[in-house]
Amino acid sequence: MNPADIASWISDAQKAFAAASDLDALKVARLAHTGDKAPVSLASRALGSLSPEEKASAGKLIGDAKAEIAKALAKATEKLEVERDAKVLLEEVVDITLPVQRTHRGGLHPISIIKNEVSDFFIEQGFSVEEGPELESGWLNFDALNIPADHPARTMQDTFFIEPIESGVVLRTQTSPVQIRSMLTQEPPIYMICPGRTFRADELDATHSPVFHQVEGLVVDKGITMAHLKGTLDNFARHMFGPDVVTRLRPSFFPFTEPSAEVDIFFNGRWIEWGGCGMVNPKVLATCGIDTDIYTGFAFGMGLERTLMVRHGITDMHDIVEGDLRFTRQFGVGL
Ligand code: PHE
Repeated sequence: MNPADIASWISDAQKAFAAASDLDALKVARLAHTGDKAPVSLASRALGSLSPEEKASAGKLIGDAKAEIAKALAKATEKLEVERDAKVLLEEVVDITLPVQRTHRGGLHPISIIKNEVSDFFIEQGFSVEEGPELESGWLNFDALNIPADHPARTMQDTFFIEPIESGVVLRTQTSPVQIRSMLTQEPPIYMICPGRTFRADELDATHSPVFHQVEGLVVDKGITMAHLKGTLDNFARHMFGPDVVTRLRPSFFPFTEPSAEVDIFFNGRWIEWGGCGMVNPKVLATCGIDTDIYTGFAFGMGLERTLMVRHGITDMHDIVEGDLRFTRQFGVGL
């Protein structure tokens, strides 16, 4: 344990620390030069066997050596940590100018969009938006609407009946039962619309779908005339098809309206049938307990798929029901 040896332990350690290229290498060097088996550590432990005088001088030499080695270690650690931090910053840098992969979060189906458009238009005019069940009692879907038992709409061809047949429950074939529900539960004046899903036993083809949507409108108040109906339909048509659209009423028949009419629109250079309408048949008002001496009403109903197809020149119903995003996105559904 002579001073020359001790000086070489110091310089060995200094060199090893300085040579370490990263913190892992420095750890290996640290264990070799300050660990249990390092020369300074062994010498430190051997101090106990020395005489008190030798112990004092050797102890000081070794203590100084340890301090020197610790200083070299601290210096190397600091340098390598700074290097590591700089490297991490460089390696983990994010280029915020790179283009991102846009993901579509989803959006509304065109039928939902048009349903909202219709609802907003009527809400602005003080109408309420009502809902009714899709599984409906045959009485509300037919009888209360003055549709007799032998009416073709009731046969197996048009109506989805729900088993057991005796239950009288059907998938509603129109939104008109919601008129009845409103008249049975509300006192006039009634101003309501009901957009909703309807069902008929049709094959899916270019113009039909067994599941489709209608919007029903009903007004019951004092002094309601066909002029109110025509005015309402005119405004509604202009809202849906633009300011230049013209409507006409063509005599027709529905058991629940009297008189009844088809409403046509003149759009893109031709007359197109849009929906059905009429003055609420007094028989229907009476069934719902409404005093026909005081109140009259009008009703209308049109298909939402049809409205969408006419407005956007869609020629195939499949596009609406199949949910292909290439079709749907054209309506601005991307969020
Ligand atoms: N419910 C009728 C249909 O589905 C449309 C309609 C509604 C006609 C209201 C007149 C009044 O064809």
